[in-house]
Amino acid sequence: MSNLGFIDLRSDTVTLPTEEMRRAMAEAEVGDDVYGEDPTIQRLERLAAEIMGKEAALFVPSGTMGNQVSVMTHTQRGDEVIMEAESHVYYYEVGAMAVLSGVQARPVPGRRGVMDPDDVRRAIRERGNIHFPRTSLVVLENTHNRGGGKVLPLDNVKAISDIAHSNGLSVHMDGARIFNAQVASGIPASEYAKYADSVMFCLSKGLCAPVGSMVVGRKDFIDRARKNRKMLGGGMRQAGILAAAGIIALTKMVDRLQEDHDNAKLLAVKLQELGYGVNPEEVETNMVVVDVTPTGKDVHTVEKELKTRGVLANANSPKTLRLVTHYGVTSDDAIKAVEVFADIIRQ
Ligand SMILES: Cc1ncc(COP(=O)(O)O)c(C=O)c1O
Repeated sequence: MSNLGFIDLRSDTVTLPTEEMRRAMAEAEVGDDVYGEDPTIQRLERLAAEIMGKEAALFVPSGTMGNQVSVMTHTQRGDEVIMEAESHVYYYEVGAMAVLSGVQARPVPGRRGVMDPDDVRRAIRERGNIHFPRTSLVVLENTHNRGGGKVLPLDNVKAISDIAHSNGLSVHMDGARIFNAQVASGIPASEYAKYADSVMFCLSKGLCAPVGSMVVGRKDFIDRARKNRKMLGGGMRQAGILAAAGIIALTKMVDRLQEDHDNAKLLAVKLQELGYGVNPEEVETNMVVVDVTPTGKDVHTVEKELKTRGVLANANSPKTLRLVTHYGVTSDDAIKAVEVFADIIRQ
C-alpha cells in the first residue's frame, strides 16, 4: 500500500497502520495514563521492557521526545554530551538538548555513524579542571540514519560503553530502528541494549504503528523520565488507543523487516548497474544512499523528475538521495522505481 499512489521512498515514517492495528486500536481498553490507569499502555510498557531486557519502559509520543527525555534524565544543566557528529539527536532535533536540558553537545565525527572508541575517550573532559563542563553522557545511534542505516558493530558498542562507564558516564542509545539492527545482524535488540543505560526505539517507523516510541531503562530512571515527560507536555491520557497498535508493532512486525532489507539491497544493486553512485555492500538495512552525480543533474532536479514519474525520495546531501524501504514498498515497487531511475540517467 503506497501513500497517495506514489512509490514513497522518503522514509519508513510514512508507513500506514495495518488492518490488525486499526482493529486493536478500535477495541483497546483505555484509561487515564497520567493517573497510571491505562491497561493497554501498561501492557505495552511491560512488553517493551521485557523485549529489551530492562526493568521498565515509558511510552512517549515521538522518537525525538524519547531521546530528549532521556538526555534530560541523564544530565544536569551545563553538562557536556558526546554523540556522533551526524547523529539524529544532534543533527535533526532542533537543538533541543541545549534548549530543554541546558547541556552542550560534543560531536565526535564517525565513519557512517560509527565513532572510534579512542575518539570518545579523548572527548571526555578531565574532572577537576575549573574551566571544563562535566561530561555525563554518551549517545549512540543504532541503526545510524545519516550513516545510511548502518548497524553499529556490537564490539564498538561494547568498547564505547566500557569507556563511558569506567569514566562515570551514562550511555543512551537512540535505537529508533534497533529492530532493523536486530534483523540485519541476528543480534537481539536486548544484546545491544545491555550496554546502554537507556534505549529509545520507535514503533512508528518500519514497525508501522501510527504514533509512538519507547524509552527503556532501570526503574528509577524511568520513574524520573516519566516526570520529565510530563514536564515536556508528553503526559498522555487515553493513549492506550495508540499503545494497542504498538503492541502489534512489537509482536507482529519485527521479522518482516527482512523484506525491507531485501528490497533496499535490490535497489542498490540495480542502481549501481545503471551507473549511479551506490555501494550495495554498504546497504545493511532499509536505507540506500545514492549519489546522483552520474546523471549530470543536480540532486533536486532528480528529486523532481522522480516525483513527476511517481517516485518520492529525499535528498540528504547536495549530491545524494536517501531511499528508504518499508511495509508500503513491495519488491514490484522497487523494480518500478529502478525503471524510473533508468529513464532519468539515460535522458
Ligand atoms: C535515528 C532517529 N532517531 C530519532 C528519530 C526521531 O523520531 P520522531 O520522528 O518520532 O521524533 C528519528 C526519526 O526519523 C531517527 O531517524
